[in-house]
Amino acid sequence: MNTAFDAVDLIRTKRDGGRLGEAAIDWLIRAYTDGEVTDEQMSAMAMAIFFRGLDGAELTRWTQAMIATGERMDFSGLSRPTVDKHSTGGVGDKITLPLAPLVASCGAAVPQLSGRGLGHTGGTLDKLEAIPGWRASLSNDELLAQLEAVGAVICAAGTGLAPADKKLYALRDVTATVESIPMISASIMSKKIAEGTASLVLDVKTGAGAFMKTYPDSKALAETMVGIGTAAGVNTVALITNMDTPLGRSAGNGLEVAESVEVLAGGGPADVVELTLALAREMLACAGIDADPADALASGRAMDAWRAMISAQGGDPDAPLPVARHTEIVTAGASGYLARMDAMAVGLAAWRLGAGRAKQGDPVQPAAGVTWHAGLGDAVRAGQPLFTLHTDTPERIERAVAALDGAVDIAASAPAPVPVVFERIG
Ligand code: URA
Repeated sequence: MNTAFDAVDLIRTKRDGGRLGEAAIDWLIRAYTDGEVTDEQMSAMAMAIFFRGLDGAELTRWTQAMIATGERMDFSGLSRPTVDKHSTGGVGDKITLPLAPLVASCGAAVPQLSGRGLGHTGGTLDKLEAIPGWRASLSNDELLAQLEAVGAVICAAGTGLAPADKKLYALRDVTATVESIPMISASIMSKKIAEGTASLVLDVKTGAGAFMKTYPDSKALAETMVGIGTAAGVNTVALITNMDTPLGRSAGNGLEVAESVEVLAGGGPADVVELTLALAREMLACAGIDADPADALASGRAMDAWRAMISAQGGDPDAPLPVARHTEIVTAGASGYLARMDAMAVGLAAWRLGAGRAKQGDPVQPAAGVTWHAGLGDAVRAGQPLFTLHTDTPERIERAVAALDGAVDIAASAPAPVPVVFERIG
């Protein structure tokens, strides 16, 4: 046991606004991962960091120390350049589904090591598991072979990447210390750097349905993550994108797969198409590939890559998606123009219908969720269907309807259009 440091001293230093040295950070993260520093002590440290922050040097070391607790993947043997995307999470955010095969169809390798959803935003693996036969777990050899052959893999991140983060994130979740820019940045970037991608495009959400509700906080998060990635030799850029309004027209696992397939078929909601193309252009530029992703969508090449990606993981791309046993319509209360749709409220309604889980390991319903029949700025008439709620368990409907109470504003005139992408950092 290394007795050079004492957890209580380090907590006191950070609590009082001091700095943690490199050796102290290395020791703390390793000792916490090994169980030598207790959950109580790390909770206190997380709260001290929540209030006091970490400076640039501390954050770089904290991230490196978390990476050092686990394995690092190596994609250097692939013939294609690797580029990944990470979103900070939003309602109706199904972009990974069309994006990974789209970018792969232009010549890149996209290793999307993903997680399951917790809370109101849903997880990429939960969405794909709505496809009959599809499996999320791949061995490292299967992952590499699929990346070389198809170019896109969306699969479960193994437990070997940054295990310190797994433990610390679970602790932060139950101690009200998640919403800390340095700790979110270190958490996300430790996993992405350990994953071994050469380039990374971050989709940092801002607004009502995002982790970061205010623009300055979202921008600070984007800048911090780009700084960590760049310092680690990963070619990193970020787009700050709108999450006041949910993306597309659906939130829920199978519903979002269906919408993604529409995009790959050349249709789909305009905001989903715009964000998919914006992220694809950034990813291709980072990977040094000169190709127009709009061409790959229009020609059907992206759809071919989707079908290959789903089939390679046991899924049947032609199988019908599950349909909920019960639906309920919520109608517009007034006539006018849709001026606001609260992403958080829609996410909560989908979650209450069974699309998400309350705790790790809970099952999710593949067909549950919410679809909406008007987008921002659309004209609506009083009494017209505004939302359709989908669930296998009708007793959930009442609480989902309650979540949508006050979720929309209908105004006399159309609101000014809001951009999908606000700013590029990097
Ligand atoms: N996602 C992560 O992986 N970590 C965080 O801290 C927040 C979101």
